[in-house]
Formats: sequence, C-alpha cells, structure tokens
Amino acid sequence: MKSINNNPTNPIGIFDSGIGGLTVAHAIRELLPHENIIYFGDTAHLPYGDKSEAAIQAYSIKIANLLLEKGCKVIVIACHSASSAAYELLKEYVNHHAFVINVIDPMIDYVSENFAGASVGLIGTKRTIQSGVYVRKFAERDKKIKLKTLATPLLAPMIEEGFFNNQISHKIIEQYLSDPELNQLDALILGCTHYPLIKREIEEFYNDKVKVLDSSLVAAQSLRHLLSERGLLNHQANPESHFYVSDYTESFENSTRLFFGENVRLEKHNLWN
Ligand code: DGL
Repeated sequence: MKSINNNPTNPIGIFDSGIGGLTVAHAIRELLPHENIIYFGDTAHLPYGDKSEAAIQAYSIKIANLLLEKGCKVIVIACHSASSAAYELLKEYVNHHAFVINVIDPMIDYVSENFAGASVGLIGTKRTIQSGVYVRKFAERDKKIKLKTLATPLLAPMIEEGFFNNQISHKIIEQYLSDPELNQLDALILGCTHYPLIKREIEEFYNDKVKVLDSSLVAAQSLRHLLSERGLLNHQANPESHFYVSDYTESFENSTRLFFGENVRLEKHNLWN
C-alpha cells in the first residue's frame, strides 16, 4: 500500500456495487464542486444486496486498493450493503492511509440528534437489513429510537429499469410500505443508493406526514465536515471526475443519467484478473 494520501488536491474515492451510488456521487459533487472524484462501480458483482458479508468484504478490499493507488484522500462507501458488511474491516485495512466514511453512520448521528424517542423506519436490501447494523448502532446511542426495519429487495432493480413515478412503482411501494412492520412512523430512512429517486413517491404515499430521510445528502454533509475539519478541502477551479466500472455495458452507461442527473462516460477497469 502507498503512503498517506493527505493532500487537499487528492481525489475523493467513492465506490458502490454499481451505478446506483452515483446518487451519492451527485450529492457530493453538489456540495463539494471543487473536488476531484474517482468513482468505482463494481458492476461485475452487482447486486451486493444478495451477497454474503464475506464476498462483499473481499470485493471492498480490492476496490479500496485501487482507490488508494489512485491517491484518494478519503474513501466513501456509497453502497449501503457494503457499508453494513465491510466498513469496520475496511477502516482497519486502510488504516491511516486515507479516511473511510460510509453512508450509515452519518444517518445514525442525524437521526439520533433529531428524532430521539421517535418511531423510525428503515428500508434497504436484504444484506443491509439482515446485518442488524442500524439496530446495533442506534442501541449504542441510547436515544430510545424505535427502529422498524423491512427488506425491500425489489425496489433497486425496479428503479434501475426505469420504473419509478409510474403505476407499477406506486403499487410496489404501496405493497412494501403497507407492511405492518412499518406501522406508525415519524420518519423513514432510505437505506439504499437507489431510493432517492423514489423519495417523492414515498412522501406522497405518506401524504407528507412521515419525514423521508435521504442518506446521500446526509453522507455528503458528513464528508464536507470531515474534509474541512482536517484541512483537506480542495478549492480547485477545474476538478476532474472519473467513473470506472468493473463490467461495462451500454445499458449501465445509459442509466447514469437517472442517478447522476446527467450522462457520464463509464471507463472499464477490470479488477478481477
Ligand atoms: N448499492 C446497493 C445498496 O445501496 C443496492 C444495489 C445492490 O444490491 O447492489 O445497498
């Protein structure tokens, strides 16, 4: 592993199981427009939501090596499934070579501060929900948050195929959110990279009575705080962004607009042989 990447002009590394993590990259770019960004989507292994913890840990280490080689000053685990399976391991592995942040802890902090004693729902992939990581981290904060969780595995592929804001997505969202497990919520955490795209639909389902919390925005704010605190904010006029994927298809490239708000050019980088 190379030396410590602590120059403000070094890039921010962001990784995800695929292109859904571009929602997080987008939030970061909006908030930190002068930063160089390197994004890696592990499209060869998509989806992570159904994978074992061990498999996701192995993929994450390999991706972290690439991001460190590219000089990233911080690694953002944009994927919730990877954040729940590999954050602790990755932090230890990367050690002092770069900072590592995930998309779960900033939300735990935010909810603990703003929703103490409230009834809070969480939706995400099977990996994220089964990991129990939110339950454990809220219990550690002891803010008396009543957490209600539900795996909603159909939502990510549905969104990726462009099914949102239509009758099909309304039905599927309604079916999931009517689950008794999610009764009587004050707030709902969107625990998956893809869900910001259906935030409005979910708010409408609840007639705007439930606060719907977007992890990508909260994570971007936490990243800005970290960089500013450590003197690592970049002020470059023309920063560069690169978007790598482990398996390239045109359909992935066409979907980038959904998640990033504009088309991005995907570069293939094969990590696996
Ligand atoms: N990026 C994943 C997550 O946020 C969703 C897609 C997948 O299962 O790989 O959990």
